[in-house]
Amino acid sequence: MPDTLLDVRNLIAYYMTPTAPVRAVDNVSFNVTEKEILGIAGESGCGKSTLAYSILRLLKPPGYIRGGEVLFKGSDLLKIEEEELRRIRWKHISYIPQSSMNALNPVMRIEEQIGDAIINHEKISKGELRKRIEDLLVSVGLSPSVAHMYPHELSGGMRQRVVIAMAMALDPELIIADEPTTALDVVVQRGILQLLRDIRSKLKASVIMITHDMAAQAQIVDRLAIMYAGKIVEIGDANDLFNDPLHPYSRALISAIPSISEKKKLKGVPGFPPDLRSPPPGCRFYPRCPHRIPGKCNVDEPRLIEVKNDRLVACHLYR
Ligand SMILES: Nc1ncnc2c1ncn2[C@@H]1O[C@H](COP(=O)(O)OP(=O)(O)O)[C@@H](O)[C@H]1O
Ligand SMILES: [Mg+2]
Repeated sequence: MPDTLLDVRNLIAYYMTPTAPVRAVDNVSFNVTEKEILGIAGESGCGKSTLAYSILRLLKPPGYIRGGEVLFKGSDLLKIEEEELRRIRWKHISYIPQSSMNALNPVMRIEEQIGDAIINHEKISKGELRKRIEDLLVSVGLSPSVAHMYPHELSGGMRQRVVIAMAMALDPELIIADEPTTALDVVVQRGILQLLRDIRSKLKASVIMITHDMAAQAQIVDRLAIMYAGKIVEIGDANDLFNDPLHPYSRALISAIPSISEKKKLKGVPGFPPDLRSPPPGCRFYPRCPHRIPGKCNVDEPRLIEVKNDRLVACHLYR
């Protein structure tokens, strides 16, 4: 059994609103083992980014963490001092925020931006720093000359590679990437996905890959967690889950993946996710579920239980 690197237990993160809290992450548990790529999928608004902020304790008001544990190599990131947490961020766990490739500083050269991330955490000579930056750029598939360029001189795919280089700069054990391919065209996406997979082997790091794009998930993840309305509804080995999704929501998501070989018509998921200020009782997917059992599914909340080898599902169909 590979060792657990990150163990998230019963994490609850809400946003305060004038009426009722938005229950964006509601009792989420999963783990990430060493050198694996865990995907977190689910439609927009299901709580993926909130989960990422919460793990890193970067959730800002009106967001707040209501409960749970985030154990990184055994110590709870939600309990340690801010000082220690700052040391862990970047050095041990790095984060590629959603849209970060568009958030590079337009008036700073790439070498300065990558350099800042390094010198904030390490004592390093100018010469060593330059060499480090060049090596990083090469390792993400860019020319060393990119160091002297400004963000506007780079394409979207190149900027995404720069952002990934920054996340790799301090040789972290875990990289959390939030929608790293979303704004890119399919060909560029493929290159970025390949790069994320290389990171795992080069850096021997684990990756949490957050994206609503199931086709992207299918290309790289080892294990996959499906989120719906603030909860994980299914988690397991990615191949197995793609071949045989059990939760009705997972099935709908997977059947909606456009097939490349046969131009299949998109079979979307009908309806909309619920308002997370007042989610439906019982199973949150109940109003949209083709297999719902009235009197059961809208009453009892299904717990995430192991229904076959290494596969957890929260659904009353599998009792
Ligand atoms: N600052 C905020 N205040 C209130 N609700 C928020 C705030 N930020 C996000 N939310 C809500 O939290 C839920 C989860 O959002 P998010 O984590 O961004 O989802 P995802 O990344 O899966 O698209 C959504 O319903 C969203 O509207
Ligand atoms: Mg998001």
